[in-house]
Amino acid sequence: MTLKNRLVRSATYEAKADEDGNPTDAYMAFYRRLAEGGVGLIVTGLTYPEKAGKLPRSVRVDDNGCVSNLRRIAAAIHGVGNGCKVALQIGHTGRQLPHTIERETVAPSAILEPYTGRMLRELRREEIESFIDKSADAIVYAYQSGFDAAQLHAAHGWLLSSFLSPHTNRRADRYGGSTENRARIVVEILGCAEGKIEKRFLVLVKMNAWDYVPSGIELPEALDLADIFEEAGFAAMEISSGMWETITCDPETIDWKAVRIPEARKRIRTIDDEAYHRDFARAFKNRLKRSKIMLVGGLKTPSLMEEIIESGDADLVSLSRSLIREPDLPRRWQAGATDTAACVSCNKCLETLREENGLRCKVLNDEHDI
Ligand SMILES: Cc1cc2nc3c(=O)[nH]c(=O)nc-3n(C[C@H](O)[C@H](O)[C@H](O)COP(=O)(O)O)c2cc1C
Repeated sequence: MTLKNRLVRSATYEAKADEDGNPTDAYMAFYRRLAEGGVGLIVTGLTYPEKAGKLPRSVRVDDNGCVSNLRRIAAAIHGVGNGCKVALQIGHTGRQLPHTIERETVAPSAILEPYTGRMLRELRREEIESFIDKSADAIVYAYQSGFDAAQLHAAHGWLLSSFLSPHTNRRADRYGGSTENRARIVVEILGCAEGKIEKRFLVLVKMNAWDYVPSGIELPEALDLADIFEEAGFAAMEISSGMWETITCDPETIDWKAVRIPEARKRIRTIDDEAYHRDFARAFKNRLKRSKIMLVGGLKTPSLMEEIIESGDADLVSLSRSLIREPDLPRRWQAGATDTAACVSCNKCLETLREENGLRCKVLNDEHDI
């Protein structure tokens, strides 16, 4: 896949579909505007291959009835006509469910999720196999609908991430235990989709370099996981960190290994706060042979992003919050502007996900809302 630039819109849950998971006009307008903004690749917000893993008003990819919806999304983005590409992000909420949602919470293992206080139910083997099939089907739907790629969301403590992590996965079957076993669910989803998609249709994965919970994934094991994913055929890895449980952890009890996290939770005030996963991305770049590395987290300043790419620490740079506030930043930067993104990562956008029209930058006036 050839991208017109190395700027990616990192997956951002938008809460703009209807209750049945069909994209609304507002959803279409939101993505059209992002594409017009000049980013090279858009990764959609999380979509759900089965209802048990759904975030409210996210897009459904749970049966082939979704193909017409996905076609409209891909056509809207490609229809802008500036070469913007689009990837569908696929995942499952797993052990992390907002308090406002009442439903059984499933996970690899039946342990307490301390941030929400929810007791989890362990997934049965046949439920895991069914989820693998459905996720693979979702990749195929994206392919059939004219998307350019798909991305599995295996970061931030959601279902796939909780399978990868030894902290949250205590299973004794083939989906738990060794690093290879914990990676199996992700690998099998891709394996199951292969043969039904063309080689040019890329599958990416977003993963944690560090879980920031006691006995979670740390960088050395994340690199082992990356080896397994590269071998399996994932074209790119987007490097992130943390899970909801991280918020409940006493930093004193965690060996932070001198890395600058959990800065993801703080505002980005100066250039020194930006690119907080850069050291991780460099380690992945040094380790992997083929897969491309996407750096996400706190990116605001175009000259820093150029320097990161030129240094070889990452192949692509991904932005989420900056593009919520200013979707046209890439176009402006391309035209020669050098200004830093206005977004300071105040995280008020997260509050808007419960509002009627879904995601927007809360610090902008209404007339600027998207
Ligand atoms: C409102 C909001 C929604 C998000 N939704 C998703 C999502 O659906 N999938 C995902 O992988 N990450 C999601 N993220 C995380 C971002 O993709 C990104 O990893 C994180 O915000 C750090 O990048 P940034 O500093 O450029 O915002 C979301 C972040 C925000 C602020």
